[in-house]
Amino acid sequence: MIGATSRAREQFEPELLAVALYKGESPRDLGEDAAGVVSGGDFGGKTGETALLYGQAGPSPRLLLVGLGEKGLFTLEKLRRAAATVARRAGALGLKTAAFSLPAPPDTAIREISRTVAEGARLGLYRFDRHKSAADEMDLDTFWLVADEGELEEATEGAELGAKVAEGTVLARDLANEPSNVATPEYLAERARRISEEYGMELTVLDRAGIEEEGLMGLATVGRSASNEPYFIVLEHRGGGDSAPIVLIGKAVTFDSGGISIKPSAGMEDMKFDMSGGAAVLGAMEAAGALDLPLNVVVIVPATENLPGGDAFKPGDVLQMHSGKTVEIVTTDAEGRLILADALSYARRYEPSAVVDCATLTGACAVALGDHASGLMGNDEDLIAELQTAGETTGERAWPLPLFGEYTEQIKGDTADIKNSGGRRGGALTAGAFLKEFTDYPWAHLDVAGTAYGKKGNAYTTKGATGVPARLLIEFLLGRTR
Ligand code: BES
Ligand code: MN
Ligand code: ZN
Repeated sequence: MIGATSRAREQFEPELLAVALYKGESPRDLGEDAAGVVSGGDFGGKTGETALLYGQAGPSPRLLLVGLGEKGLFTLEKLRRAAATVARRAGALGLKTAAFSLPAPPDTAIREISRTVAEGARLGLYRFDRHKSAADEMDLDTFWLVADEGELEEATEGAELGAKVAEGTVLARDLANEPSNVATPEYLAERARRISEEYGMELTVLDRAGIEEEGLMGLATVGRSASNEPYFIVLEHRGGGDSAPIVLIGKAVTFDSGGISIKPSAGMEDMKFDMSGGAAVLGAMEAAGALDLPLNVVVIVPATENLPGGDAFKPGDVLQMHSGKTVEIVTTDAEGRLILADALSYARRYEPSAVVDCATLTGACAVALGDHASGLMGNDEDLIAELQTAGETTGERAWPLPLFGEYTEQIKGDTADIKNSGGRRGGALTAGAFLKEFTDYPWAHLDVAGTAYGKKGNAYTTKGATGVPARLLIEFLLGRTR
């Protein structure tokens, strides 16, 4: 449970109280020990630094100082990480309750502060251990945000918002972390059904026959040789009256072996994460439901495996997509753009105000931007700017990449309209240029190949799925309600 409480509350007795300090800041009203730790040089307030003190006279026996770095260089991301560090430390100590005294950085509303702290705390505690027989005990169950009495209402609202955003992100992480023998296309459809029932959303699920009937031949072709059937999942949240909907599309290749153009086996296990885009849009929709956003939001998840087999599609094949365009297959490993293209042209029926797709689409994007930003492309400068801002606010940074006409030239087909690969050079951009061919509305594309999962983890992520870009998308939706 994450909630807000006032400093004045009498029965408030957390097992640990955390206080954030900027670099060089001396603690006030925290007693001689805390003052001594700082003046003695044992704690300097650097980002991520901590000091734990015992025998405190205040409401809690433990005081945890946590550094926020230089005051003038404050960011919400630093605060998010500080909150996660506190929650993790409390959890590691085996505590049940912890509290975080909210800092008051200049020019930042208490609501944003609280939201960020709640997000950090919940995400910091995230573990994916449901397949382990003996999981580490980590049962911190109450995390208080401590605010001044006059700020309590706003802090409570912020904490609730942050908790809901975090739960959506947790769903995205859970789905992406599940191995491909659990998280099949059918499993994703089932999880979408649960969301639709919980929040009264409309759900459409097309199976193999339905996919072919609808003419979604990109998805039908990629999914043809897989014995786990492909599904086309559409979830609709109607909270915005008759306003034009926002459509979110997520690539869900539940395992990408490359198909006939098979991938090298080293590291292939990571291709269970190739449905991270689909996981993120489902996570965002979970939050949209929990927050009852006053918007119309449609989520589309084309879900399939990409496997070799006697019935698999092959290099050189030509297929006609849902939009009517023909595509020549250069490599069966460029499968994501095929299933996304069909989802993009399916989205036209909604006459959307904006469409955002997200996908672990290209290794090239991960090479270009590393783990630290998603690639951002599109046909609408305002939408791109909006998403970039949402990325900055949430710490799920996205960085614009160009879609010059030359990239479209690079994917002109020899025997068909276009081909599904433009070669190695500019791989993230030719993939974006491919998708652009299937849009005729304000559209943006997030390539999360480098950001959706990682080998290391940070203060609030673990090795494995990060949930990116679920929080970015939720923030984007929230922005559309303001
Ligand atoms: N799912 C991969 C992209 C990927 C690669 C994601 C590494 C995460 C880490 C995608 O389907 C793919 O295989 N893309 C190819 C495209 C190429 C064959 C044109 C790639 O990036 O190599
Ligand atoms: Mn592939
Ligand atoms: Zn893929």
